[in-house]
Amino acid sequence: MRGKTIDILHEAGRSGYAVGAFNTSITEIGQGIAGAARHLKKNCIIQVTPTSIEYVGEDIIGAIVQKTIEYNSGKAKIGFHLDHGKSFADVKVAIDKLGVDSVMIDASTKSLEENIALTKMVVDYAHQKGVAVQAELGRVPYIGRDGQTVSWEEVMTKPEEAKRLVEETGIDALAVGIGNAHGFFRERKVPDWERLEKIKKLIPKTPLIMHGASDWDKEKVKNAVSRGIVCFNVDTDLRLAFISAVCNKVIPKCDLIDPRKILEVARESVQIKVEEKIEMFFNAIQN
Ligand code: G3H
Ligand code: 13P
Ligand code: ZN
Repeated sequence: MRGKTIDILHEAGRSGYAVGAFNTSITEIGQGIAGAARHLKKNCIIQVTPTSIEYVGEDIIGAIVQKTIEYNSGKAKIGFHLDHGKSFADVKVAIDKLGVDSVMIDASTKSLEENIALTKMVVDYAHQKGVAVQAELGRVPYIGRDGQTVSWEEVMTKPEEAKRLVEETGIDALAVGIGNAHGFFRERKVPDWERLEKIKKLIPKTPLIMHGASDWDKEKVKNAVSRGIVCFNVDTDLRLAFISAVCNKVIPKCDLIDPRKILEVARESVQIKVEEKIEMFFNAIQN
């Protein structure tokens, strides 16, 4: 069933577990994610980026995700979220056309002042429509896209600035940078746990989100959840699960003529991967 993202995050925080926010760009990935939540009867978030909205079409993707949640999630609660909105226009499309119940405004490449100004504008618009807002402060780099070296001290979230952003904008959740990076690329050798603790202490009521979590193992997840992370964003690992299933299916049997024969195994492979992640985030500090 559909659940409000913000309620899913707070419920996880109160109960001492974390959830996954999983990216979809095509129907079968969304079905794999919802199928995993249904099978495990555990909550999660399905999210789309502006590039996926452009790929599928803004008049189509919202309906697909909403129906996927409605018909494939069973008793699990699934929230629908805009990931990495970069502009006010992105956010407006997601709220007014897609029907998301939360948005991310990623102004992390801007100065603090500009980040606060744009984020505040988004919060004012979103809140009046009952939509929650996630912001990002510091940067979670795309190593490989951004260039090969990162000065972690420069890009990680500064706790005092995080407090200011929360106080001046009224955001509902914050994506933090503690040495995490998107994709399977080099991250900081050890995440800056002390920094995460400081952030949590300064903004104890704001759910903290970990982007770039595809390559996070059990130990790192446990350390993060015990310090206040309630949600891990996963995209790359699902893309790999999908593509490797397609390759395995196609290479030995390239006489296939029915695309569904390829896509159904890819969907299953995504579901298996999502189930693995949901359990890891849920059980991080429970056993
Ligand atoms: O962090 C965002 C995704 O992993 C990549 O976004 O859908 O724009 O490629 P994309
Ligand atoms: P990964 O690239 O590690 O899957 O991170 C995804 C993400 O942060 C989406 O917002
Ligand atoms: Zn991200």
